[in-house]
Amino acid sequence: MADPTSESAPVPTPESWRRADAYLARTLVGDDIDLDAAVADQRSAGLPDIEVAPLNGKLLHLLARLVGARRVLEIGTLGGYSTIWLARALPADGRVVTIEAEQHHADVARRSIDRAGLGDRVDIRVGRAADVLPDIEGPFDLVFIDADKESNTIYLDHAARLARPGAVVIVDNIGRAGRIADPDTTNPQVIGTQRGLELLASDPRFDATALQTLDAKGWDGIAIALVVDPNEG
Ligand code: SAH
Ligand code: DHB
Ligand code: MG
Repeated sequence: MADPTSESAPVPTPESWRRADAYLARTLVGDDIDLDAAVADQRSAGLPDIEVAPLNGKLLHLLARLVGARRVLEIGTLGGYSTIWLARALPADGRVVTIEAEQHHADVARRSIDRAGLGDRVDIRVGRAADVLPDIEGPFDLVFIDADKESNTIYLDHAARLARPGAVVIVDNIGRAGRIADPDTTNPQVIGTQRGLELLASDPRFDATALQTLDAKGWDGIAIALVVDPNEG
């Protein structure tokens, strides 16, 4: 029997969990010309190294397929890495609407998305999401929230308005190396993330869980919520 307290149970170290993550990514995702090029271009353009890990990108893709997504809303495009994973899950007439505050990020993303052959499936809106979202029309089948964490409750409110019942909402970065459990944190990003999780727990329009992740991006996690119709059993 595996005893997690026994001395023989390996303790995760960055080296061991990165090796396990690389193994899983190599086995289940592999090389991908367009995704690898998107990451390479993002790096050479000086964008931050904060796109989702490959296995999480594939999870987004599979969740979109599981809900039969035709319309996806993403908040936080960066260089388009997660956008490509999501756009590939859609039928040819499907759409990802992705919101990005930085014009430079949007320009890098546009090139990578076009090169991946997904240009006509992706609509990049440049601006602060809180300003852009009031003009966006639903319904969406999947919403991926991955921008400024301080605004997560605002984004979840929009997600509840814009997503159909049965849609899935994913919130990135809900672990933050364990800081999420600190009730005394003064970090505004962690506080925003905590308020977002509390909204997911208390708002009758959502039913949610969360998974911690230990991967190439360190110790973090995602929340996954089903959008429910509060008036139905
Ligand atoms: N989803 C991407 C990573 C997004 S990183 C991926 O996994 O590949 C977060 C992005 O959100 C950055 O590009 C940042 O510029 C953008 N961002 C930050 N604040 C924002 C805001 N208020 N509105 C829209 N985008 C914002
Ligand atoms: C940061 C933002 C992200 O969306 C992420 O996945 C990792 C890090 C950040 O702002 O540091
Ligand atoms: Mg993120």
